[in-house]
Order: sequence, then structure tokens, then C-alpha cells
Amino acid sequence: MSDLKRPEKSIEESRTEQVHLLRYEDINGESRLFGGKLVFWIDEVAGAVARRHTGIRVTTASIDNLQFKNPAFLDELVIVVGYITYVGNTSMEVRVDTYAESTNGTRRPINRAYLTVVALGSDDRPCPIPYGITIETESQKYEWDCALKRIELRKMRRQEGF
Ligand SMILES: CC(C)(COP(=O)(O)OP(=O)(O)OC[C@H]1O[C@@H](n2cnc3c(N)ncnc32)[C@H](O)[C@@H]1OP(=O)(O)O)[C@@H](O)C(=O)NCCC(=O)NCCS
Repeated sequence: MSDLKRPEKSIEESRTEQVHLLRYEDINGESRLFGGKLVFWIDEVAGAVARRHTGIRVTTASIDNLQFKNPAFLDELVIVVGYITYVGNTSMEVRVDTYAESTNGTRRPINRAYLTVVALGSDDRPCPIPYGITIETESQKYEWDCALKRIELRKMRRQEGF
């Protein structure tokens, strides 16, 4: 799906999952996963998703709607999952969901974030993204429509400086 004429890739093709076993160095003074460490992982996963989708260099322009919903603790598994929700001209939106996984395999959501990642040309400037995404499910369509609203809000924030 795209307003532009270009070949498409499925969202699944660039979906990326990262798994971490929480160690002492990941934990803050409150005995929980340190938020900054999680943001590092989120940014890494979004970058991998965007690079897999575009096949070119990318950089993160913004991280927003970053919601820490629940804590995670030492020795838990943390799963960071990213996938594309929208592709614009030179930028794309990547949603990253993070879960803590218990020993029986049950996952509880601990974070959700939306990142805007921009494709870069050899001159280090934004360049057109070569592929759109194929929307295959109702929830993918819903994400696309919501992304359009988030993009408008981001533009308004940039223009008005709030
Ligand atoms: C991201 C960057 C390349 C954008 O440069 P720019 O001159 O603002 O680019 P443009 O105005 O041409 O915008 C390019 C695209 O990015 C989007 N964009 C730019 N800044 C954005 C922001 N802050 N939030 C969301 N989207 C943004 C634009 O909407 C546009 O999207 P589109 O082509 O799909 O319509 C530039 O700001 C940059 O290099 N930032 C540093 C990035 C970085 O180093 N990240 C690593 C972490 S420090």
C-alpha cells in the first residue's frame, strides 16, 4: 500500500524479534529493567526492521508514543518485536512492542513505541524508500490509518514547536 507507484514487500518480511535475558547490568536502582537500556534495544530493532525493508542505510528521526506499561525484573526474558506500520516518501513508521516472558511462555506487554525512520542516500540526505508495504489484514489496515493520524500530529508538533 502506498500513495506512490513502487513495488511492495510484506510486513512480515522485515519483522524483527530480539530476545534478552535480563542481567544485573540491565537493572536500575529500583530493581527493574532500566528504561534507557530498553530504549536502546527498541531503537536497534526499529533500525533493523527499516534496513531490512529498504535494503539501504537508515537513521531514526523520532521516537514517540513511548509507553512504559509494566516493569520487568532480573532473570526474566524480554522480547522486543518490531514491524513496519506505514511507508511514506523517505520515512517509514515502525511499531515496537516489548514483552516480558515468564518461564511458562506467557508474555505480558511492558512497552510500546512508534519510531520514524528515514532512508538515507549516499549524500547522507533523506532518499525515496524503494518499497511500499502490502496490507494483508484488517489490523495492518488499522495501523496504517492510525499512522496517518500520528504523522499529522508529528507534523503539527514540528511546525508549532510543542
Ligand atoms: C532525520 C533527518 C535525516 C531528517 O532530515 P530533514 O532535513 O528534516 O528531512 P526532511 O524534512 O526532508 O524529512 C524527511 C522525512 O522525514 C520525516 N521527518 C523529518 N523529521 C522528522 C521528525 N522529527 N519526526 C518524524 N518525521 C520526521 C519527514 O516527514 C519526511 O518524511 P516523508 O519523506 O516520508 O514525507 C535529520 O533530521 C537527521 O539526520 N537527524 C539526525 C538523525 C540521527 O542521527 N539519528 C540517530 C540518533 S541520534
